[in-house]
Amino acid sequence: SFSHRFISPSDLPAATPTLLLLHGTGGNEHDLIPIGRELMPHAALLSPRGRVLERGMPRFFRRFAEGVFDIDDIKRQAAALNEFLDAAATAYSFDRQRVIAVGYSNGANIAAALLLLHGAVLAGAVLLRPMTPLVPEPLPDLAGVPVLVVAGKYDGLVTTAETERLAGLLQTAGATVTLAMLEQGHQLSQEDIRIAREWLQAGH
Ligand code: MLT
Repeated sequence: SFSHRFISPSDLPAATPTLLLLHGTGGNEHDLIPIGRELMPHAALLSPRGRVLERGMPRFFRRFAEGVFDIDDIKRQAAALNEFLDAAATAYSFDRQRVIAVGYSNGANIAAALLLLHGAVLAGAVLLRPMTPLVPEPLPDLAGVPVLVVAGKYDGLVTTAETERLAGLLQTAGATVTLAMLEQGHQLSQEDIRIAREWLQAGH
């Protein structure tokens, strides 16, 4: 399981999705709560803490070096996160079919891994500064799953080619991908929040 925070919806549960908030390296389950609130004020928020520690910093999977991922651990952690979603939906009585991930950096990478390895287990995903966590064989069926990818043109960690590689992979799997390229670096900005909010409000 995962240490986590859950915030009940302030609307009827049937009226809103649940946002799955996935923090970046060195973050925790508290970090993205304010952003979740801004993105969807009435939605339920489910915010787990990554179970891997890298020199004291929580993450959602192991890496051997910057950008060099431990694929076996990604598979283990994505499976555990998927099981956690099932268990949390039962424990907190939210609709398992209506979970939308909002992940930043390492959190975006585990959200992408969840989709690439387990298929349409999310109703949608907002991926802020993601990389390509792995290339699954075969590709999953992501038909109809909306995914927003928000990249930074001046991101020193994630190249444009890397962003396009992930967007292409998701698209080939059938996802409906929207790609936004901001005049930003790797850090989140108000513009990320605005774009994500508008995309979510448009009904994804
Ligand atoms: C990762 O390890 O998932 C990426 O390098 C992003 C990050 O630094 O968290």
